[in-house]
Amino acid sequence: MTGPATVFGVPDSPRVVTIGHAIVDVVASCDDALLERLGLDKATMSLVEPERAAHIRSQVQATKMASGGSAANTAVGLSALGVPTSFVGMVADDDLGAFFAADLKAAGVSFAGPGTSLDGAGNGVNPGSRRAAPSAGLGTGTSIVLVTPDAERTMCTSLGVGGELGASQVDPIQVSQADIVYLEGYLCGKAATDAAVAAAIKAASASSTLVALSASDPFWVSLHRDEMRNLLDYTQVLFANEEEALELSGQPDVASALRELSAVCPTVVVTLGAQGCVVSEGGQTLLVDAPEVDSIVDKTGAGDSFAAGYLYGIVNKLGARRSAQIGGLLASKVITRFGARPEASDLTGIA
Ligand SMILES: Nc1ncnc2c1ncn2[C@@H]1O[C@H](COP(=O)(O)OP(=O)(O)OP(=O)(O)O)[C@@H](O)[C@H]1O
Ligand SMILES: [Mg+2]
Repeated sequence: MTGPATVFGVPDSPRVVTIGHAIVDVVASCDDALLERLGLDKATMSLVEPERAAHIRSQVQATKMASGGSAANTAVGLSALGVPTSFVGMVADDDLGAFFAADLKAAGVSFAGPGTSLDGAGNGVNPGSRRAAPSAGLGTGTSIVLVTPDAERTMCTSLGVGGELGASQVDPIQVSQADIVYLEGYLCGKAATDAAVAAAIKAASASSTLVALSASDPFWVSLHRDEMRNLLDYTQVLFANEEEALELSGQPDVASALRELSAVCPTVVVTLGAQGCVVSEGGQTLLVDAPEVDSIVDKTGAGDSFAAGYLYGIVNKLGARRSAQIGGLLASKVITRFGARPEASDLTGIA
């Protein structure tokens, strides 16, 4: 087992702190008929019990295992773009946890690794005094990612110990010293992860740290709409795809969704797939095209990579249009191959 890869707050001060579920993806090709037989809603994430996960796995041929998790994918993209970034999430002290931690370390993302947390009061402590986190017998989270021939991805996730992430894993000092704390919407709606979000927001509000939120998934938004709406009151930058924006706002079209959401959140970015994105900021609305992509292989991580590029733009004060362009460029690279995370070669011509 590897030890903690890096430490909270020291020695490096991340410009972006990302918080989310640590997930190892099991990727498999799948046709639409099988999705239907399994009763899965295409392009959404559903939570599954271990028995159901085992059944779904028995129906497909897994092609690869890869570290994933929405916020962690964004962290890897940011790090590839040269932004010092940390990821806060829980893995178990098992093989998948080690696999996940090693990937983040290789990508240059600060990650405390398996079996670590801050002191019980949630205060930043030096690494020597950290204690092992309770694992409640749960393993590292996994997600079966089913990729259909249209490159769309449908996910069946078991959160494992990732859902136990709590306030004590969030270092308020690290958050308060960062430019941005980035939260995945999947954290909304469970007592432990809601507490982690609250701790992050408290630390950010006491400083000039921006709070950025990804809506994550339309189905998740529909389940936890009220919690996410409350979170918007503390959010400065919201990322949502079209379906998520409609669901979160309760509006029938993107224009009214933007109006509704930007009344509470200063920067709202709605991604529109091949159509690029629309940004509402400072009373202005900006439509930014996506680069044309010839052959899309796997859309997993499009939204996460887009967010990484956009946040890079914020950190470097590039303005909304350029930030959206960089988001689109990074996403356009990731969707041309299997896998959710940007690679170094994707950065040519970007940063
Ligand atoms: N077909 C496409 N052609 C070009 N760019 C695309 C395409 N699909 C997605 N993108 C890029 O990725 C960004 C995010 O895509 P989208 O709006 O589909 O997000 P999403 O639904 O959150 O994706 P994900 O599958 O990762 O959840 C878009 O704004 C665009 O820049
Ligand atoms: Mg998405």
